[in-house]
Amino acid sequence: MALYAIGDLHLSFQSEVKVPMQTMGKVWIDHERKFRENCLNTVREEDTLVLLGDHSWGKKLADCELDLKYIENLPGRKILLRGNHDMFWEARKTEQLNKLYEGRLFFLQNNYYTYEDYALVGTKGYCYEGKDTPEHAAMLVEREAERLRISFEAAKKDGYAKFIMFLHYPPTNIMERSSIFTKMASEYGAEQVVYAHCHGEARFHDSIRGKKRGIRYSLASGDCLRWHPLRIL
Ligand SMILES: [Fe+2]
Ligand SMILES: [Fe+2]
Repeated sequence: MALYAIGDLHLSFQSEVKVPMQTMGKVWIDHERKFRENCLNTVREEDTLVLLGDHSWGKKLADCELDLKYIENLPGRKILLRGNHDMFWEARKTEQLNKLYEGRLFFLQNNYYTYEDYALVGTKGYCYEGKDTPEHAAMLVEREAERLRISFEAAKKDGYAKFIMFLHYPPTNIMERSSIFTKMASEYGAEQVVYAHCHGEARFHDSIRGKKRGIRYSLASGDCLRWHPLRIL
């Protein structure tokens, strides 16, 4: 058994995209085919694959069906996290999505999943990127931190003591050395923090990578990994 993660597939099998991903650089050309092939070569049916958000450009669930079908058809158990572009997934409707895709896809929000004796916890997260006011960013960070705590607490209540923490956004912005998210990872004793969202070479070192305060931090955005799922455990 193995645990893998990757984010930012940015699929658009049925939705129109203003800026096609191919224009973002060579790595995006035919990325759906490359990623599927890499999964078929590495991920086995008994493995778990965590997809770290920005799954689809579709704005409504009806516009994402083919994208979600593509994910469903990948090998292994698929656990999905919300990204900032996943407009089809309202946080409060997670339970509905879990019912709709029961046994096929697992949506991680205010809940947790397991991998061996680990609890897989997570939320979208947020970090200030200069796109909104600092006050608004602080409000979003707080809300996401609360959602992450709900995820940790649900697992803790069920007796889990080993955690892998997933975020869509990086845990810190370029100005920070720590954040409420890194503090929570330490507080609960997460062994690893895995995040995505950062696209293009220039952004691959925006946040923490490698071991810090005993926790391994990994960036797992699809283009950074050149569409090879990252082995976590
Ligand atoms: Fe993205
Ligand atoms: Fe993103």
